[in-house]
Amino acid sequence: MSNMAFADAEDMVQPNPEQIKKGATLYAQHCAACHGPRMADPEGAFDLRKFPRDQHDRFTTSVTKGKNSMPPWGGLLTPDDVGALWAYVVAGEKN
Ligand code: HEC
Repeated sequence: MSNMAFADAEDMVQPNPEQIKKGATLYAQHCAACHGPRMADPEGAFDLRKFPRDQHDRFTTSVTKGKNSMPPWGGLLTPDDVGALWAYVVAGEKN
């Protein structure tokens, strides 16, 4: 069986255009109200364009469990959804 390498590649969750697109849709539905449309204009909330790109775990924890006045999303979004949001944040908006 030579599908081990294939399974490993899946585990790495490479951002791909589909995932980024899914993240952008989820963002518009759930996050834009506070973080601003297309991540611009976050007013009081965190400016996600400035979120450190090397802190994936922090992103996942904050989004899943919430942080201060930021509501937790773990009950509504799947880990896959949160991964798609991360892909979108990392890819950024090309304005
Ligand atoms: C009700 C308003 C609101 C919504 C909706 C919201 N956020 Fe937030 N978010 C905040 C606020 C306020 C903060 C700043 C929290 C703090 O550090 O005190 C924040 C902080 C964050 C942070 C930074 C956390 C950290 O570790 O410093 C991330 C990442 C984040 N939000 C992602 C998201 C994502 C992704 C969504 C959509 C699923 C979302 N937020 C929806 C209000 C919101």
